[in-house]
Amino acid sequence: MLSEKLLNEFNQQVKHEFASANLYLAMAAYCKSEDLDGFANFFIVQAEEERFHAMKFFNFINELGGRSLLYGYEDPKNDYTSLEEVFTDSLNHEKFVTDRINILMDIAVNEKNYACVSFLNWFIDEQVEEMAMFSALLNKIKRIGENSHAIYMLDTELAARVFTPPVAE
Ligand SMILES: [Fe+2]
Repeated sequence: MLSEKLLNEFNQQVKHEFASANLYLAMAAYCKSEDLDGFANFFIVQAEEERFHAMKFFNFINELGGRSLLYGYEDPKNDYTSLEEVFTDSLNHEKFVTDRINILMDIAVNEKNYACVSFLNWFIDEQVEEMAMFSALLNKIKRIGENSHAIYMLDTELAARVFTPPVAE
């Protein structure tokens, strides 16, 4: 069972996760335009992860007998001038998502909705990983600066990222 408040917040989260996918796809498009195919691949995989998150919320809402409502979202930012800008924005976006998950958890805890608490724990852990990954990459980008050899190396490394949906639910 979901209270009206939780149902509404969960539905909003479906929107935020799909909007995240769109944002990361826009970043992938910028990277592609700069011939950074490895970075583009990294963001395409990230977009897949975000759609997976959205569907996790969508399915959970329905499992608890709620009805998912789909909402539109704003256009993502499409203009970037550097990789540092892309990764600064990514990290800020993940901070926003972490705050969102924390708000959902606060409500679930307040309402003693333990099914939701258990479900949200997965996202709490996931956000720790996302923040760590993006802040490590931003630090690398800052350190690399304009060193084209190092950018090429990192681009090659990121070309290897693949989307693997977690098996254990
Ligand atoms: Fe997400």
